[in-house]
Formats: sequence, structure tokens, C-alpha cells
Amino acid sequence: MTKNIYITSPIYYVNDAPHIGHAYTSIACDALARFYTLYNRQVHFLTGTDEHGQKVEKSALAKNIEPQQFCDEVSQKFRQLASFLNLSNHDFIRTTEARHIKTVEKFWQILQENGYIYKGVYEGWYAVRDEAFYAESEIIDGKAPSGAEVTWHKEESYFFRLSAFEEKLLALYSAVPDFIKPLSRYNEVVSFVKGGLKDLSISRNSFSWGIKVPNDNQNVIYVWLDALTNYLSALDFTNNSTQYQQFWQQATPIHIVGKDIIRFHAVYWPAFLMAANINLPHTIYAHGWWTNSGQKISKSLGNVICPYQEVAYLQSKIASFSPEQSVTQNIAIDYFRYFLLKEVPFGNDGDYSQESLIKRINAELVNNIGNLAQRCLTMVVKEFPAGLPTLQHSALALFEPYSQQFFENMQNFAYDKALSNIIDFASLINKNFNDTAPWNLKKQQKISQMHNCLLQTTDAIRVIGIMLLSFIPHSANKILDILNISQNKRNFASLTASWQENHQISQSYPVFPRLQ
Ligand code: MSP
Repeated sequence: MTKNIYITSPIYYVNDAPHIGHAYTSIACDALARFYTLYNRQVHFLTGTDEHGQKVEKSALAKNIEPQQFCDEVSQKFRQLASFLNLSNHDFIRTTEARHIKTVEKFWQILQENGYIYKGVYEGWYAVRDEAFYAESEIIDGKAPSGAEVTWHKEESYFFRLSAFEEKLLALYSAVPDFIKPLSRYNEVVSFVKGGLKDLSISRNSFSWGIKVPNDNQNVIYVWLDALTNYLSALDFTNNSTQYQQFWQQATPIHIVGKDIIRFHAVYWPAFLMAANINLPHTIYAHGWWTNSGQKISKSLGNVICPYQEVAYLQSKIASFSPEQSVTQNIAIDYFRYFLLKEVPFGNDGDYSQESLIKRINAELVNNIGNLAQRCLTMVVKEFPAGLPTLQHSALALFEPYSQQFFENMQNFAYDKALSNIIDFASLINKNFNDTAPWNLKKQQKISQMHNCLLQTTDAIRVIGIMLLSFIPHSANKILDILNISQNKRNFASLTASWQENHQISQSYPVFPRLQ
């Protein structure tokens, strides 16, 4: 791991309204970006929209609007989603922007100069929904492996010499097993490449919504070659910028993608980069897919999960908590983020159901952490009106076994396990708190014992607040606000920080309202 970390989400097709799949990939990237920032790394987090290709052109035509106008409108929705979900992205790239088009043209020219592009005739299957070419052997019952409709295409096309990279890719996968994660996807990609790689058609001429092939107005560049290049164009690759040096050349680039697009990222992309003599990314992590209460999600079934609706639903379940909409909305967003990251191991498929969501939030955030904080901090405010005495009973020793695992889990993309480490720690502190029963100690006039318990629990709550920052930033910050922790102490280096004499904490309130 280098000091600089580059985290990218896929760029989203603008033919569709934002749904849970987009939200999930983005939230996972955000948790990682926040984690490494708290870990004192220099992070650059990129997301954006994929706006060219036949699929987008068709969607615009169906609405009877110009593709550019259509893209402007839908791209804006993805930008709004990023802000709604509280993403910490540093940049938002659109493939119709000049900075991107310039980079794709330059990238094409490099591939051409290096002798990896030639002209031929493409004949075979194409699925517009996947924007992908499929071999005859991959067609199942007349459809793409993804279930998408395919049509037979025959057109003059430029080709990329993908076949020249079969051995090189296999050598890469075996030398760097972390290049593709998790293992199931690694195996899938290795076996795909072992099956043999054919040269890849990288231009189309049957429609026009795309970046023109340099010096050839009749052809547009294949949308995946166009789209993948976004990871470089956002860093101003063409000018060999400081940002490119910092976040590509001297960095750990991590691409988070869904399992459906692993082939483009783990086969085509490294081949393009090798052909252009550019460093490869560090890791491509493919996550699984969500189903809706056990059913595959699809537009035709009408069971697409909309992040805005889910958040509104959660808000309605905590409606009595605050008259301010924005307050309950931020809490609901955190509940949604928490559920997606905790419910399934990252990489596996998962099932979304409101029932499981409510159960999980009430059990883990409300009853466990929320209750602990509320019970302890209400007493602390009463017991220490003049501020906390110096804390001698830091909770760190208790947390150490959990923290070690927590850091390891996050570095392995195991969000669910990392969250379990926090929850398990909170359960332990809860148990200690109940067993020690400071309210009884008070009745028995055992003041110093009572104070020790309160102070240690307070420190544990601070630790929990800091550990939660990557996942549920709004609520975690609320916990730290109540504890009056300064902004520069909200990071992992400060986990061991001591408290200042007479530190004042604010009046406590339930940070995690119960879902009815
Ligand atoms: N435009 C391409 C990516 C180009 S990256 C250079 C694309 N876009 S997409 O909008 O179709 O998909 C974006 C992401 O959403 C993918 O990572 C995909 O896996 C994810 N999901 C779409 N539906 C999903 C679920 N039902 N569940 C989880 N994620 C899913 O592909």
C-alpha cells in the first residue's frame, strides 16, 4: 500500500435512473475512501457517468431528445445521488466532457503507434444492454450469458490485438493474485483467459453517439474502451499531470466494480494498459448483486429498488424522532448505508428486504450502540458538571484485539466483518456496563468505582464513534459531537489520544432512533 490511494467506482450508464446497484457500489467505494483517509492516506475518490454508446443513444431517441441533452439530465441525477448518499468523492467525471474525449483520443493513438490496432471486419453477436461482444460458445438459448438480447453484427471495425496478451495476463494473475478479488472472480477470469482470447473489436459504425476514431469520421470508439479510460482522464493523463503521477503512477489504484463487469476491468483494461505501457491498477474488486426479497431485480418485474424510496421509507419509521426532515433523512441514509455494508460479505450476492433492514438496525445500532451511549452519557453529564477528570481508564486495551482485526478486515474489503468487530466491541462494553451497574454503585456511594466505569465507557464510545466514521459518517460524527471531540481528533491516529482535563461533553440524545 502506498501513501496515495486512488479509489474508483464504475461510471454509471445514463440510460437508467439510479438504483440500489449504483448506490451499493458507490457506498462501498465511499467507506473505503473514508477508511483510508482516516488512516492518514492521501485518497482520491472518483465516480461519474458513462454516456456514450448505442444503449444511451437508443434511450435518448426513445425520449425524442438529443443524446447530449439526455445525458446532461440523467448525469445530473447521478451527481445528486452521490451527494444524497453523502459520498466523499473528490471528482465526478462524465465521458462527454472535453477532458475525457481528449484522453480517449490520445489513448487510442498510443495503442495505434504501439502497433496494437488494425482494421478488419467484425462478425458476431452483440448485446446492446451489456455493450458487449460475445463468442458463439457463450450464447445460451439465443441470449448473452447475462440474459441480454443479442443481435448478429457484421461491420468493418478496428481491432485491438487482445490475443497478444493471453500469456501476459495469465502471468500477471499468477504473479499478483490480489489483482482480482475475491477469489471466485479471480478463478472465473483466469479460466476465461485460459479459454483463449480473440482480438477485440474496438469501433462501431452503425450508430454515431460516441467519440470518433482519430482521423476516421465514420467510426466511433467502442464504448468500453472509451469508458475504461475515464480512470486516466480524470487524472489529466494527457498532460502527464502531477495528479496523474500522484494517483496513478505512485499510487495504489483500486477499482470497485460489480461482478457483471469484471471481464472488462480484469481482462480488457490491463491489456489496454500494457499495450500503452502504463502501470496497472493494484486491485479490481468485484462485488455481488442484490436481489429484492429473494427475486432477481429487473425493470420488467417492476421490483427495482430506488435508494430515495428506501431512505424515505426509513424516515417514515423514525418520523416521531425529529420535526426536521433533514435530520431524519441523514439518519435514514446512514441506516441504509449500514445495512448494505453489513448484511452480506462484500463479494457475495445479497438479498434486500426491509424486514431484515429494520431488525438489523434495531439490534445493532439502536439497542447496542445507541442504548449504551445514551445510558452512559446521560449519567456522565450529571456526574461531571465541571467536565471530565483526566481519563486514566482508556478503553484502548479492551479494544486492541478488535481493532487489529478491524484494520485487517478493511484492508481486505471485508466491510461486514469490520463492522462486526465494532459491534462485538460495543457488546463487550455494554456487558461490562451492565455488570458494573454504575447506578447501583452510586446508590452504594462507591463513587470512584462508578466514575471509573463511566469514564472507561465514555472512552469506548469515542472509539466506537471513530471506527464508525467510514460507514455512517453522519451518525458517527453526531456521537463525536456529543463527546465534543475536536475535528482533528476524529481519525485513527487519535484512537489512543488522551482526554484533556475538564473536558466538557454535551447533553446526550439518542443518536440512533428506533425503527418502528
Ligand atoms: N457503465 C458501466 C461501467 C463502466 S466502468 C468503466 C456499467 N454501468 S451500470 O450503470 O450498468 O452499472 C453500474 C454498477 O451497478 C455495476 O458495478 C453493477 O454491478 C452495479 N449493479 C447493477 N445492478 C446491481 C444489483 N442488482 N446489485 C448490485 N449491483 C448491481 O456497467
